[in-house]
Amino acid sequence: MIFIRALEQKILAEGKILPGEVLKVGSFLNQQIDTKLLKDMGDEIARLYEGNNVTKVLTIESSGIAIAYAAGLAMGLPVVFAKKHSSSNLSGNILTSQVYSYTHQQTYDIMVSGDYITSNDTVLIVDDFLAKGNALKGLIDIVNQAGAKLAGCAIAIEKGFQGGGDELRAKGVRVESLAIIDKMTDDSLEFRS
Ligand code: G4P
Repeated sequence: MIFIRALEQKILAEGKILPGEVLKVGSFLNQQIDTKLLKDMGDEIARLYEGNNVTKVLTIESSGIAIAYAAGLAMGLPVVFAKKHSSSNLSGNILTSQVYSYTHQQTYDIMVSGDYITSNDTVLIVDDFLAKGNALKGLIDIVNQAGAKLAGCAIAIEKGFQGGGDELRAKGVRVESLAIIDKMTDDSLEFRS
């Protein structure tokens, strides 16, 4: 709880609200990284999912990687990230899904090597932002294609008013967000209590 309040204070102090219901947090999460804050986020995610027998942390490039690394380090687990562009590093058994980005209004493919997520894994999905939930749905699709078990999702900042988190919770997916914004106007934010 103390940590969650610290994250909310950081969002209030440094977050900038942009047109299109976008919260800019480049000063600590999306471009410059506050390493101590990210370490604390990773520790909190590890605490939330303790005892869930997680074997892999899964995220999506690029902004999810820092928080996923912090969580993986705290849990002593490898981190796998879905790629948005095919590369020569990806070959053989590839798991793919399509994600529609509401923020960028375009559909893109995500790809993970089937060597890194398998039916022996219990996966925790970690990401920096949750809006409509399309990125999470794509990652969950990949976990299902691999035949792996899903422990749940852990997110730094959820925009609760965009509904993606609650939609997944209603389907029985465990979604833990360290800060949930329920209301955002041009100059104010309200967190879920
Ligand atoms: P969804 O996955 O929840 O449906 O959201 P959406 O498609 O709208 O999100 C697309 C991208 O925008 C994601 O990053 C997501 O993390 C980011 N995003 C969504 N809302 C916000 C916001 O209010 N503030 C910030 N800073 N980011 C937001 P991405 O396109 O995958 O890019 P990357 O930054 O991970 O490389």
